[in-house]
Amino acid sequence: MLKKACTPSSVLLVCLGNICRSPTAEEVFRQQAAIAGLSIKIDSAGTGDWHIGHAPDERAQRHAKSHGYNINKLKARQVSADDFHKFDLILAMDTQNLADLKAIKDNLADTDTSLAQLALFSEEDPTYGGDDVPDPYQGDSNDFEEVIERIESSAKSWIESWKAN
Ligand code: 4NP
Repeated sequence: MLKKACTPSSVLLVCLGNICRSPTAEEVFRQQAAIAGLSIKIDSAGTGDWHIGHAPDERAQRHAKSHGYNINKLKARQVSADDFHKFDLILAMDTQNLADLKAIKDNLADTDTSLAQLALFSEEDPTYGGDDVPDPYQGDSNDFEEVIERIESSAKSWIESWKAN
């Protein structure tokens, strides 16, 4: 569990491809933060480079839209070392993403102590805490629905933890 902290001024959501989970999380987080009256810069990125410049997966777009989230205009990008300087908090959708982010951070940590804090996206969630948001890319419609359900739940838990401080 993260030390209870003040609201971060910037949060980066990270998955593998940045075309399914993290763009969805970006928009869910943005809407929930706005409703809560929290001013947070929010962005997303992927650890992989296959989809740089691509719009979100059409299935992710469709499922997001059916829950009131428009992610059509987002464009995938790859996480960079710069992100560890620009963001206060980087949230990984799964444990592999978290390990990949830690490896990047460890390479930077020698020279800089003010790098982004890292955590699993589900970390604050009483329902899904510690779980991965499962990669839906090879999955079906149920998998994309599960992604939205988990993202909404875990984003809400972060926002509530910040509102309480
Ligand atoms: P995401 O899903 O990490 O939620 O964006 C994936 C998208 C693409 C691939 C893997 C996962 N891929 O291997 O291309």
